[in-house]
Amino acid sequence: MSLVLGIETSCDETGAGLVADGVLLGDGLASSADEHARFGGVVPEVAARAHVSAVVPMVRMAVERAGVSLSDVDAVAVTAGPGLSPALHVGVAAAKAYATALGVPLHGVHHLAGHAAVDVLEHGPLPERCVALIVSGGHTSLLSMGDLARDPVVHLGDTVDDAAGEAFDKVARLLGLPYPGGPAISKAALEGDPHAVAFPRPMTGPRDAPFGFSFSGLKTAVARHVEATHDAGRALAVPDVAASFQQAVVDVLVRKAVRACREQESDTLLMVGGVAANRALREGMETACAGAGITLRVPVPRLCTDNGAMIAALGDLLVRADVPPAGLASTAVPSVE
Ligand code: KG4
Ligand code: ZN
Repeated sequence: MSLVLGIETSCDETGAGLVADGVLLGDGLASSADEHARFGGVVPEVAARAHVSAVVPMVRMAVERAGVSLSDVDAVAVTAGPGLSPALHVGVAAAKAYATALGVPLHGVHHLAGHAAVDVLEHGPLPERCVALIVSGGHTSLLSMGDLARDPVVHLGDTVDDAAGEAFDKVARLLGLPYPGGPAISKAALEGDPHAVAFPRPMTGPRDAPFGFSFSGLKTAVARHVEATHDAGRALAVPDVAASFQQAVVDVLVRKAVRACREQESDTLLMVGGVAANRALREGMETACAGAGITLRVPVPRLCTDNGAMIAALGDLLVRADVPPAGLASTAVPSVE
């Protein structure tokens, strides 16, 4: 049995995790989200500085929580990309230092494959192939996944503009709701009618990319509705707008994810990312998957977002599959497909 240390620094979360044979032993997670809030988005340089401060404490926290000693670590895995370049370099440099000092192999791994690998910790091995929907503040992608240790991640489609979580955050601001917008919108939507406002379902036309997404037009439609309501001197029905916007996002994600499973002949859909915590999305996806004979796998919300456990989980799969480590040749690849 090998003990794998995973390090994640691709965006604003500094994560460390320890996994052995598909079991999460301990992890540590710090976020610099508060430091970016006033800029309205993640600032790479600010994120990188925060990683420099947090990476060693998070590794220590993971080690303490796991009840092991750092010298027990048999391999190190680190997110190589995709992600913010300055942020990735911090994790890669730290991982090289740990691997060198410990005299153990180092694997540079794919962040999106890590999002899928984390589910193995909770629900056991994945089938030979599956479709993954990654919906967060940074990504909205439909992926075809094979053997996570050996096969490349295949992008079926991605957003051409805003990520789904970003759309929730921007629409929340338009509605005067707090950041992060996702939880605020889903709470407001509980009191609203999802059919109150007919917002568009972007990229669902016959000529659109079947698995592509676009959410900036939907945000503009909400902005227009807010403006028109104010111009008409009427009060904005925030719960109705929140529920109608949320329903439009859910409809698009559900429709495309189920279609991708059908086309890929996949009987399993994996849904991860911060937006996967959305109750309407989970319920809509559950119902659609049940109707189509698809098994839906969604990790607990804590593991759905960026964390170190997911990188340790993927490193553990690589170690168990005897994949040769890149070692000190590992490098940050910010825009890897
Ligand atoms: O994966 P994540 O924690 O981090 C990054 O993308 O870095 O995702 C955060 C995103 C935010 O945009 C947030 O508004 C959204 O996930 N989110 C939600 C919900 N909870 C978080 N969106 C919709 N409904 C939710 N309940
Ligand atoms: Zn991520």
